Amino acid sequence: MKNPIKGFSKLSKSAKIEWLLANYTNDPTTSYDMLSGYWHQQAEVQKLHDEFIENTLSNYYMPFGVAPNFLINGEMYAIPMAIEESSVVAAASKAANFWMERGGFKAHVVSTIKVGHVHFIWEGKDVAKLEEVFESHKSLFFENSADITKNMVARGGGILDIQLIDKSDLEPGYFQLEARFETCDSMGANFINSCLESFAHTWQAIVANNQAQLGESTLQIVMSILSNFTPECLVHAEVRCKIDQINEGSGIDNHEFASKFCRAIRIATVEPYRAVTHNKGIMNGIDAVVIATGNDFRATEACAHAFAAKSGRYSSLTHAKVEGDEFVFWIELPLSLGTVGGITSLHPMVKFAHELLGYPTAQQLMLVTAVAGLAQNFSAVRSLITSGIQKGHMKMHLLNILNQLEATDNEKSIIVEYFKDKVVSHSAAVEIFTKIRGGWLPVTGENPDKLGATSGN
Ligand code: MEV
Repeated sequence: MKNPIKGFSKLSKSAKIEWLLANYTNDPTTSYDMLSGYWHQQAEVQKLHDEFIENTLSNYYMPFGVAPNFLINGEMYAIPMAIEESSVVAAASKAANFWMERGGFKAHVVSTIKVGHVHFIWEGKDVAKLEEVFESHKSLFFENSADITKNMVARGGGILDIQLIDKSDLEPGYFQLEARFETCDSMGANFINSCLESFAHTWQAIVANNQAQLGESTLQIVMSILSNFTPECLVHAEVRCKIDQINEGSGIDNHEFASKFCRAIRIATVEPYRAVTHNKGIMNGIDAVVIATGNDFRATEACAHAFAAKSGRYSSLTHAKVEGDEFVFWIELPLSLGTVGGITSLHPMVKFAHELLGYPTAQQLMLVTAVAGLAQNFSAVRSLITSGIQKGHMKMHLLNILNQLEATDNEKSIIVEYFKDKVVSHSAAVEIFTKIRGGWLPVTGENPDKLGATSGN
């Protein structure tokens, strides 16, 4: 067993790396070269990254791509996406082009309210008295947190409302102070949590000062924290077109396509096994934008999935219908995003992503992100009900396979050309690579179709 270490976080970066590599790697020199190879060449940028978290050793690269040609509410966007999965940006771009020719995406923010709680246990006899005390002292919560809220109020936000909620049917003595907030362009986690901690202190003081009215009772604050479930921070995005334009040129009848598409969405609505994969595909697009713009993808994910289960059964986040002679496809989901605060003004790539999007407000970013999710889902379902998903996915994944095989650029271009009109499979890629590498097939100047490999299609 390896020895533990005390005070690791206090060591210098190089001492941390030295200790770690000596204790946990087989070849510290190679590992050091790899780690240091990912350091940013500008020391001040690296320092920023070092200070984002504790115990930073290096940086973790993800591809940062862009899906252009998104027409949203009449404006053109090139949407930044940070994601490792091969086919996501390609699928988004494809849907963007498809819908650009059919009027584009329409999106609007339904509401932007965020919520947080002081969870507490009150053991006493008269809940009505507790409610009375709460209502008659409510203004104190606002007054005592005025220092925290003044900047947010100046920006048009702040605390909207505080309520006392009896949850003692769920847990003995369990109550909440539930507060609603408007946090403008910030995601608002620090603001909300600071307000809630202030409310907890205020509430303790109110209860202590009103013992005579409350009778024999005890109060225990359990915790004060925002909720990442923000069903009232809601955005809606949709596309629509005449049914006879829905699948032009793909070989499938438009009405059949629309009906099969709607059925696929209904299956994701009623069948949780399908809904999880369906929503995962939506989150491919959403997370990629959330990460590129420096937002919290764990919060976004947790909230989206809780919202998908709000009826008691986990269900699709997107919906589709045929309305008269139109095909309509839409998404409605909560997205709690910020365009100020956090790392938005620190991380150079995040700043660039915001610049690409025209320095959006939080509400504009909600629109763009919801559209990315809808576009992703459109491409996925379209492939699933027509060619199948693997054709496009494996084509995009081919370079990963060839990189694993350490193919040269020349070998890659020959093999990519070879698979242009064939279905890619891992075994077929390995087979043709092995033939070329083994010298059984020429690597230049040949029509790859003559190479004789079996493609698995
Ligand atoms: C893969 O990352 C996402 C899909 O599975 C989504 C879906 O099935 O709808 C293709």
